[in-house]
Amino acid sequence: MTSTAADGSSSLALPVLDEELDSRLRDRLTLVEERLEREIRSEAAFVTEAARHLMNAGGKRFRPALTLLCAEAGPAPGSPEVITSACVVELTHLASLYHDDVMDEAQLRRGAASANSRWDNHVAILTGDFLFSKSSELTSTLGAEAVRIQAETFTALVEGQILETLTPGPGEDALAHYLRVVQGKTGSLIATSARYGARFAGAAPEVERALTAYGERVGMAFQLSDDILDVAAESVESGKTPGTDLREGVPTLPVLMARRSARPEDRRLLSLLDSDLSDDARHEEALALLRRHPALDEARAHVLDITRQAQRFLDVLPPGPVREALDAFAVLTATRSS
Ligand code: IPE
Ligand code: IPE
Ligand code: MG
Ligand code: MG
Repeated sequence: MTSTAADGSSSLALPVLDEELDSRLRDRLTLVEERLEREIRSEAAFVTEAARHLMNAGGKRFRPALTLLCAEAGPAPGSPEVITSACVVELTHLASLYHDDVMDEAQLRRGAASANSRWDNHVAILTGDFLFSKSSELTSTLGAEAVRIQAETFTALVEGQILETLTPGPGEDALAHYLRVVQGKTGSLIATSARYGARFAGAAPEVERALTAYGERVGMAFQLSDDILDVAAESVESGKTPGTDLREGVPTLPVLMARRSARPEDRRLLSLLDSDLSDDARHEEALALLRRHPALDEARAHVLDITRQAQRFLDVLPPGPVREALDAFAVLTATRSS
């Protein structure tokens, strides 16, 4: 799903068959990139360096790409507000990565050392705060309603991240709890990425609503694919350390599916999953068992189901290259390998 540029950064290979549409989107993504570079500069040279560290390390730019694509559903897809809102969602995302790597004690991000490992937790947290503030400054230029949407999105994202650290409530199903986590921590911002595109391109309110719902499902499929990749992918593909979720004890979709199926031959896996997986040997064994477990395919089927829900929201759009591209974007999200 990604292509690698000469500077080593990766960007999304947009699933757009229409050449004109593809070229318009690429031009706008370049504008977003230039704007991002300007927006993260600080008076303090070290802050700029710390913020540029992950910004320039690569990243798929999935959220701004979705904003630009959804903007094609409105009459003004290239408006300055669309470009600004695409920057807002990437800055918010980038900030959340700085904080997330502290929470997850991750060492590797976008193929580079995470900020917490290159510097320390204080630098990572404060750089994340700096980027959230930059994102808010930019949102304020889009008007009060955009600020409200951004604040609600951030509330949901943080709630999702906190909920992930808690066990399900009494009587609450573990999978239902986890899907709430995913909806909050990832679905919310990807929903807003789609919404901003439609909104600032002047799309009709029913189109904005449908694309927001589409974005939320795409976002959930995106996170659940990421969970599968944490088990199945190699670090060269993901730019992250495989098995990080497992090591941190995050009960992601493949783990929850494996726990549910509980075949007699799963006794060893289940006992490993209940143990401390910060131990290297136990972690490696659990990862190997999960990699060949049918739960991985069950998890993939679940993701495709959510993708189909996303696709149904596209009925609001007329047939044509934009609808086709959004449809393909949802499928690629569910089947991505990096
Ligand atoms: C990583 O997001 C965090 C998740 C929601 C899984 P991305 O996979 O979009 O990360 P980058 O921006 O490409 O590095
Ligand atoms: C993704 O967190 C959600 C946010 C960053 C808000 P994860 O911990 O699931 O994602 P990766 O695997 O570190 O990218
Ligand atoms: Mg993480
Ligand atoms: Mg996390």
